Amino acid sequence: MIDAAGRTIDYMRISITDRCNLRCRYCMPDGITQVAMSEILTYEEIKKICTLAEELGIRKIKITGGEPLVRKGCVDLIGMIKEIPGIIQVTMTTNGVLLKENLKALKDAGLDGINISLDTLDHEKYYKITGTDACDTVLEAVEASAEIGIRTKVNSVLQDAGDRQEWRALVRLAEKLPVDVRFIELMPIGCGKRNTGVSNLELLDEIKKEYSDIRTDPEIHGNGPAVYYRIPGFAGSIGFISAMHGKFCNTCNRIRLTSTGDLKPCLCYGDIYPLKELLKSGTDDEIREQIKHAIENKPAAHCFEKPGEITEAHQMAQIGG
Ligand code: GTP
Ligand code: 5AD
Ligand code: SF4
Repeated sequence: MIDAAGRTIDYMRISITDRCNLRCRYCMPDGITQVAMSEILTYEEIKKICTLAEELGIRKIKITGGEPLVRKGCVDLIGMIKEIPGIIQVTMTTNGVLLKENLKALKDAGLDGINISLDTLDHEKYYKITGTDACDTVLEAVEASAEIGIRTKVNSVLQDAGDRQEWRALVRLAEKLPVDVRFIELMPIGCGKRNTGVSNLELLDEIKKEYSDIRTDPEIHGNGPAVYYRIPGFAGSIGFISAMHGKFCNTCNRIRLTSTGDLKPCLCYGDIYPLKELLKSGTDDEIREQIKHAIENKPAAHCFEKPGEITEAHQMAQIGG
């Protein structure tokens, strides 16, 4: 479908759970209330929404959380969505803690790509950020994912000046592994509202000082807002998701489905379009109409530069990033 701003909407991000086995301090504060399991869409309901959304032009699906792999049967869901004719790509964004033991099954289910969150390679810092000593486990999952032949990306949020130098070790990951390393600017959502994040403009300048031969990478690497660069001799690329300094809303191609069945046309603005009741007592036509409404009413842009206007009450873990 084409939305009111002329954008083609062909990508849906689905949060299958708001639960997570980590407690990243910018995403999941202590004491966050969790949604009751009875409120969460079943896999059959998710598949139904995907099938109807495909009829409206959704071709690519991203499975997110919370942490998607903490929900039992997540791998089966990937297989169920891959069965829908017309869905050409299913990818997942994960914190990587449970990835290694699920990799083979995910590959067999047909998963097309994995994005793994890893903000630092320093054990102590990783523990401070996430509350868990899983840095090595996640790094091993990154290596194993690349090795098994699934397109692999690393997502890194540098939260403040103290994390800034983490880029050095993270960039070097792309030197030896065919993995894209992406730096995401901290967005003012949930705990990110204190917004002390590192600017990607400054980061790129700093990287250029060390790697003067870094060049724009024209290849398309996914469906997201990242802009990519290549360093000669490196196996992977370096990406920048400049949510604060590089407004990418005019090329936005996506809608979001929360674990409780609310369609969100934008990450953090505008109305939500509930599907749960329609799934229980509505018709397929009514569900399709609701998806259409969500797309037609997609906000033209976010305005993170005016945090007071953000209507979003959810934490990032509930939206799925
Ligand atoms: P691929 O490159 O196709 O895998 O997609 P992606 O980069 O969108 O996926 P991922 O789930 O890894 O998201 C990376 C970061 O981009 C997360 O922090 C998301 O919150 C952010 N992001 C994704 N889509 C949007 C968007 O529409 N708006 C904003 N502001 N941020 C987004
Ligand atoms: N700003 C930017 N990125 C965030 N993520 C979680 N919260 C925020 C935020 N406030 C990232 C995670 C993960 C991705 C799905 O979203 O680090 O890599
Ligand atoms: Fe979990 Fe991802 Fe949030 Fe960290 S950023 S707490 S891994 S959902």
